Amino acid sequence: MLTINGTRLISRITELGSVGLDSEGRRVRLAASDADRAGRDLVASWMEDAGMRVVVDRIGNLFGIWETEENRGEAPVMTGSHIDSVINAGRYDGCTGVIAGIEVVKRLQEAGVKTKRPIAVGAFTDEEGVRYQPDMLGSLTYVGGKPLEEALATVGTDGTVIGEELARIGYAGTAEPGFLRPCRFVELHIEQGPILDAEGVTIGAVEDLQGISWHRLTIRGRQNHAGTTPTRLRIDAGLAAAKVNVFLRERCSLPGSRTVATVGTMALSPNAVNVIPDTAVFTVDIRNPKEEQLQAEEKALFDYLRELERTDGVTWSAERLSRFAPVPFDQGIVELVEKAAAKRGLSCRRMTSGAGQDAQMLARLCPTAMIFVPSVSGISHNPAEYTRDEDLIAGANVLLDVMTEMSETAC
Ligand code: GLV
Ligand code: MN
Ligand code: MN
Repeated sequence: MLTINGTRLISRITELGSVGLDSEGRRVRLAASDADRAGRDLVASWMEDAGMRVVVDRIGNLFGIWETEENRGEAPVMTGSHIDSVINAGRYDGCTGVIAGIEVVKRLQEAGVKTKRPIAVGAFTDEEGVRYQPDMLGSLTYVGGKPLEEALATVGTDGTVIGEELARIGYAGTAEPGFLRPCRFVELHIEQGPILDAEGVTIGAVEDLQGISWHRLTIRGRQNHAGTTPTRLRIDAGLAAAKVNVFLRERCSLPGSRTVATVGTMALSPNAVNVIPDTAVFTVDIRNPKEEQLQAEEKALFDYLRELERTDGVTWSAERLSRFAPVPFDQGIVELVEKAAAKRGLSCRRMTSGAGQDAQMLARLCPTAMIFVPSVSGISHNPAEYTRDEDLIAGANVLLDVMTEMSETAC
């Protein structure tokens, strides 16, 4: 049975993980930044090393394409993920899938295997959505979910424009997004949650992905003196924002609720120790595997904000940053994942992706599914994120089998 080169896989994950450390030693490889460029340069060099043709599209998605005389012109099978990161990230999120995809191609070539279809590996732009919203911007644009010009004009949290930043770092390519229409897509990713680790299962066959709703909320109150203003006369924007956060947690804690919600950023203004804030700007991330329930959570949030107008005297506005419905994946590919795990003697269970993924966008284009490997203690979006070497290797071997099998199948 062909297996990937585990030493090469792990050393590359480690090497890419050392790219983009800031002055405080935090891993910060935000989309289209200088750190992202350094990571992309490394990934492109590995694609070339694996005999792949490197193509960059106009939204900066980076592809390695391996085709032979015999299979040129056939629809490819595709894998991939992302190499942009959150702030103070771990080294596995996204990078695992890109590096394992390249390893699959490298290994097939070394073993002299000729696949019936070309194989493409993508590193999609701005999956994390930390700098530019919505998240999955590159893969969303690739599948036609957002007009290219609109995507390129996206203004980031730092006021930059993604199209200009991609040009600046040398990754504004010329291929039209969607130029390569895959026959099938499969993505290897770390689970980023606790299930596989807790159950001692090595492979997750991901059959669906939960819906995501992001908003930026602005609550306005009245700036006033912290010492002289009686409590009953305050209109405290910071307090109202805190109440929203507590409200969300209470909803998530209702019996039977599968909702998760996060206030991940908050800025108070004027942000001074002795001044009642007149403005709170904060983000809300709400997720649920069921579309109706996600809609119910959004409605509950806005009803609560209206209630705060009455109870706290504040005003508010909301900007939608990202909204994606839950996505079912392709049962046929899920079964291929299970079959590959069984063939290799690996334990496997079906599961839902709690995280947003490029695969959810590719699912709009072709049959798609995902492979998960365990995250120790379910820690992710954290430098302590860790997946054991043997699990990374197991996942890459399952990817190898699924890619090989998919490349033999009719579209
Ligand atoms: C991406 O990592 C997300 O799910 O936010
Ligand atoms: Mn990811
Ligand atoms: Mn992530």
